[in-house]
Amino acid sequence: MKKVKYEKLEDVQQRLLNEAEKVMNTAYNPYSNFYVGAALLAQNGMIITGSNVENAAYGSTVCAERAAIFRANAMGIRNFSKVAIIAKGKNFDTDKVTAPCGNCRQVLYEFAQVSGRNLEIIMATTKMDKIVIATIEELLPLGFGPKDLGIDMKKYK
Ligand code: THU
Repeated sequence: MKKVKYEKLEDVQQRLLNEAEKVMNTAYNPYSNFYVGAALLAQNGMIITGSNVENAAYGSTVCAERAAIFRANAMGIRNFSKVAIIAKGKNFDTDKVTAPCGNCRQVLYEFAQVSGRNLEIIMATTKMDKIVIATIEELLPLGFGPKDLGIDMKKYK
C-alpha cells in the first residue's frame, strides 16, 4: 500500500481516476447523497465505469465498484488489471480516500482470480490531493475465492 501524488501516477492511472470522477456524477443516491465512481482497466485497454445505485430497500444498493464489474461482465469482459475509485458527498469533499466496502472487496477478489492478477486499486479523495494505491490481496488478505473451490477460471477469463 502506498501514497502517491497525482503527478507521479502513470498516464493510465490518471485516466482511470478522471473517468471515475466523471462517472460518479451519475450516481443514483437519493438516500445517502454520496457519490462514488469506479473505473476498471480491462486487459484489452478498455475502461469500464460504474456508479452507485441505491434502493429504498437499502440493502439492495449496488456500489460503484460492483456496478462497473457487472457492466463489464455484460460486455463480455472479465479480465482486469486496475480499478480507480473516487467519491464525494453532496455538500462536501472527502478528506480521506474511499476504499471498497467488504462486499466489493469480495467481488473484486473473485475477478482478480479470474484475471489471474493481484488487482491494483487506486483510491482518491474528491480533490485527488490524497491518493492511495493498494492491491486486492492487501485489502482482502487470506480471501476466499474460486480457487478455493477448485474452479478452473481459465474458461471464464
Ligand atoms: N459506496 C460505493 O459505491 N462504494 C464504496 O466503496 C463505498 C460505498 C456507496 C454505497 C451507497 O450508495 C453509498 O456509497 C453510501 O454507502
